[in-house]
Amino acid sequence: MERSDDIFVPGRKTIDEVFDKSTLEVLYELMKHGHIQSMDYPISTGKEAKVFRALSPDDTPLAVKIMRMNTSIFKEYRKYIEGDYRFKRVGKGRKLIYTWAKKEFSNLKRMYEAIINVPMPITFSNNILVMELVEHQGGPAPMLKDVKLNEEEMEEVYNSIIGDYHKMVNEIKLIHGDLSEYNILYSDGDAYIIDVSQSVPTSHPRADELFQRDVSNLARYFQKSGVETSEDIIIGTIMEGNDDHA
Ligand SMILES: Nc1ncnc2c1ncn2[C@@H]1O[C@H](COP(=O)(O)OP(=O)(O)OP(=O)(O)O)[C@@H](O)[C@H]1O
Ligand SMILES: [Mg+2]
Repeated sequence: MERSDDIFVPGRKTIDEVFDKSTLEVLYELMKHGHIQSMDYPISTGKEAKVFRALSPDDTPLAVKIMRMNTSIFKEYRKYIEGDYRFKRVGKGRKLIYTWAKKEFSNLKRMYEAIINVPMPITFSNNILVMELVEHQGGPAPMLKDVKLNEEEMEEVYNSIIGDYHKMVNEIKLIHGDLSEYNILYSDGDAYIIDVSQSVPTSHPRADELFQRDVSNLARYFQKSGVETSEDIIIGTIMEGNDDHA
């Protein structure tokens, strides 16, 4: 029999790399504890994570992000965890991935509580993060890079993102660290920031470098999309009223 994307075979370690025994056990626990009612379909398959649409017991659409247990990316992750005062114990191997998921949950929660437009975090366990699904026209929301917007809509997205980044830096003192049109979702007129596992406090040794990278990504994308802006304008707006350095 031909195997299509048959990812739900329990215990088969090789299948699609995310559903190993321990991950299935965690999913089962999340279902048992009433966080997830059903897993629907994959929305995104990347090298670091696979994201599924799911449903909560009260039929709220969810995004379930399963971090891969992929040893080749461990080294990369360490760079973002070491130096973060909140995560003194980095851990090795599996533990490192668990810290990574916990870090994403904690960053998301801080942003959500600061009323930054991010998906509402729901829970996390080991390598699994559960959050609200951002939707657009009844399905999972597309990345900003994949939507066609008119000038006015693009300007609104720009203002919303820069406003959110201002709150991130000044109110909760976090730097996103991977912000671009790939990590912004477009939902019926609103822009949502996602993928915050690598976000670091402004006190992190790499904060300046990551901030600069985010700013260049934003300037490049929004300029290309017709918004009158520049790296200097973006930095000026984000740092307005800020006495310390990002
Ligand atoms: N809350 C959400 N609502 C809707 N879609 C989401 C949500 N979270 C993630 N996605 C979808 O899953 C994709 C990957 O998520 P994310 O950017 O968080 O993972 P990633 O770390 O970039 O993974 P990889 O690097 O392996 O691609 C997103 O581009 C988006 O399409
Ligand atoms: Mg991403």
